Amino acid sequence: MLEDLDQIHRSALAEATSIPDETALEEFRVRYLGKKGSLTAAAARMKDLAPADRPLFGQKLNEVRAAITAALEDRSSALMAAKDAQAAQGIDPTLPARPLHRGSLHPLSQVLDRAVDTLRRMGFALAEGPEVETEWHCFDALNTPPDHPARKESDTYYFPNGKLLRTHTSSVQIRTMESASSVPVRIIAPGTAFRRDEIDETHSISFTQLEGLYVDRDVSLADLKGTLEAFFQVIFGAGTEIRFRPHFFPFTEPSFEIDVKLRTVGRAERWVEIAGCGLVDPAVFAAVTKCRKDDLFHPDLVTGFAFGMGVDRLAMIQYGIPDLRLFNENDVRFLRQFV
Ligand code: PHE
Repeated sequence: MLEDLDQIHRSALAEATSIPDETALEEFRVRYLGKKGSLTAAAARMKDLAPADRPLFGQKLNEVRAAITAALEDRSSALMAAKDAQAAQGIDPTLPARPLHRGSLHPLSQVLDRAVDTLRRMGFALAEGPEVETEWHCFDALNTPPDHPARKESDTYYFPNGKLLRTHTSSVQIRTMESASSVPVRIIAPGTAFRRDEIDETHSISFTQLEGLYVDRDVSLADLKGTLEAFFQVIFGAGTEIRFRPHFFPFTEPSFEIDVKLRTVGRAERWVEIAGCGLVDPAVFAAVTKCRKDDLFHPDLVTGFAFGMGVDRLAMIQYGIPDLRLFNENDVRFLRQFV
């Protein structure tokens, strides 16, 4: 019986080194170690032995099984190594790796992310509203009368159902107040706005705006100025000068445009318009109150400020980009500069 084991051992080892491929390897394993394999059959015969002879046989059996398993593994790694060597034929592993091109955020996203981060640290939460908007949210509730030029077909994209592509993100002011459950409300709403415009260096049919709204019991012009001055210091650098120039918007009273003083090397200093803002017009609170049917935003109880700025404009100033169209052309020679 012990000789049987030796015999199995010898033939298995002799065979193993010349197994040609993985299929044959599996066939070999089954033939020796499988349920009906020769080693398994030998093991089954252990019960025929005298009890005294069994330990020796058992030990030998284990040795042979280990040896065959090891031979099997050796052959398997050898076959795998041969396969690898074959696959690597003609490949020079000492060549430097191909450069990995990392993507990066679009310059507009970078500028917007920074603006949003800054305002969030100042306590503003993100809000959003639909791009396809009702006339009421976009105009009427914002105290913009039917004969206002912004509502003209020549300035605005209307759908047959009377809805329109929002001409500004100020509609989110209304959406936010409609659904708010308490004051204060302190939100920013980045998003796309659409206007019928001739496309040129500074005009586009769609652009990104960043809207802001703060409503509370006692919001004043000082809050508006302080907030936006602090904001532009972060965006354009400490010491940046901004000015508030009286202006008109239907939904704020008083209203201002904010200019920032640009100092560009080789150019005379100049003021550039950067945002619109003002204290929320009580007529806007009245429209919201009428629609909510409660007093949370009653014009006698709350005041607020709102602002809106073009993110494209921010980015153009920040990076000295002369033409708005560059943002949408997806020319990698342009985009690669903002990695
Ligand atoms: N919605 C205005 C625009 O698009 C900007 C603005 C927002 C002005 C909020 C005042 C307050 O021009």
